[in-house]
Amino acid sequence: MMRTAWVLLAVGIVATSASGRATEYASPAPAPTFTKDVAPIFFESCASCHRPGEVAPMPLLSYQDARPWSKAIRQKVLSREMPPWHADPQYGKFRNDRSLTRQQIAAIVAWVDAGSPKGDDADLPAPPTFIPGWQNGEPDYIIDMPIEYELQAEGEIPEQNFYVKIPFAEDRFAEVLEIRPSNPAVVHHGGAHLVDLPAGHTVVNGRAIGPDGKEIASLRFSRRGQPSLVELAGSQKLISFVPGRGLERHRPGVAKRLPAGKYIQFAMHYQPTGKPEKDRTRLGIWFSRTPVTHEVLTMQAGNPLATSSVREPIYIAEGKPVPLVNGRPDTPNIPPYAENWSLTGVTAITEPITLYGMSPHMHLRGKDLKWVLTLPDGREEVLLSVPKYDFNWQIHYELETPIKIPAGSKITGIAHYDNSIRNRYNPGPDKEVFWSEQSWDEMYQAFMEVTIDSQDLTKRRAIATQPQQKQ
Ligand code: HEC
Repeated sequence: MMRTAWVLLAVGIVATSASGRATEYASPAPAPTFTKDVAPIFFESCASCHRPGEVAPMPLLSYQDARPWSKAIRQKVLSREMPPWHADPQYGKFRNDRSLTRQQIAAIVAWVDAGSPKGDDADLPAPPTFIPGWQNGEPDYIIDMPIEYELQAEGEIPEQNFYVKIPFAEDRFAEVLEIRPSNPAVVHHGGAHLVDLPAGHTVVNGRAIGPDGKEIASLRFSRRGQPSLVELAGSQKLISFVPGRGLERHRPGVAKRLPAGKYIQFAMHYQPTGKPEKDRTRLGIWFSRTPVTHEVLTMQAGNPLATSSVREPIYIAEGKPVPLVNGRPDTPNIPPYAENWSLTGVTAITEPITLYGMSPHMHLRGKDLKWVLTLPDGREEVLLSVPKYDFNWQIHYELETPIKIPAGSKITGIAHYDNSIRNRYNPGPDKEVFWSEQSWDEMYQAFMEVTIDSQDLTKRRAIATQPQQKQ
């Protein structure tokens, strides 16, 4: 019955068209074409990763590139898996938001549904131009990983650490930093941190060797250097690398400090590809060109503000305060099969600060993470919510406008972990999960980039603000 009606209707349309009154039955706007409607979206939102030499598996720069992938593209943009961006759009505005608009998604879907037509070549916009190598142009200074690391072909590779002494005689300030693997395909994630090496160590081929001749495991000392007078807790983390992330531009007058005498630790998480590979990651530095008033501190929800007299971190696991052992949180392990295990960090804002951005870091059981600001009068505001955390995409969410946060506020980072079989990334639901840097263990790092408003580096001491000659 239904089918007959449909056929009759179709016949009716044909008949009417034949009589020259087709406009009455005009189909909606013509199908989008690649050259006119889709290429501009791919050039703007996909090509930064989907081009030769970058992290994505295939280029999307031409019709020939894109056509065979159209079904997969339809599915990935509809599910919002591509481009990767995991912030709940209800909260916050971010200057690096790369998500597609509804209209863009609709155009891509309609294009695929219409059979992925190419369209008129004359409509094709100029292809995007990319600076090869460094994204920000040639750095003022480059610090290389001290050796080229040779990866084994298969198996798990634990975190690899390499150390380079900061080559400057005095503290320098970086407004822009870029960390760039020579072989992005093998770096799952990594970072550059500032550390002190323990007394009696030597550095051989970039490895820290203790007096006993053995390599010193990173956890025994990294990121625990006592901040000096001019150095605030939170200055130790310089920049992270994950696919699609590795460049950070701070705002003029705000910069990362590179303290003379410290070591840069390249903390690298490599993934084997099935054949022997090599990587030598580099750190590009662009010095601040304006006087630096504030240094960017990368801190975590749960840790006290750098200048707070209270030094104890505050964490709450499954509703219960986490006890401290030697001043460090003794977080309980995540039990086997726990589906929605919660861990929350609370930072009291003891003096006015400015917040620039946030990034979640958890491992394979990480499920969601949300930053909530509670103002002194009790009002609450969600700063960022990442409802479906994905270990492969540790995105740094840069606020469009930095937020001034008054003293007496608090910031709470609320995370959940899924150690059940429902979590398709879970390497072992039957296992109790411990806390460490290794990806089979878990982490809770609700990072925030902040400056302390009362700091004014121009008043404390003279600082070098001009780039030096390359050494
Ligand atoms: C930040 C980098 C980045 C951006 C931007 C990005 N992609 Fe991807 N894309 C990747 C990476 C890396 C992969 C492979 C890993 C994965 O699937 O997550 C991928 C995978 C894909 C796949 C699946 C390929 C396969 O093997 O099945 C499709 C389809 C895709 N992207 C389409 C797009 C489209 C369309 C856009 C733009 C609208 C886009 N991507 C933007 C990095 C990116």
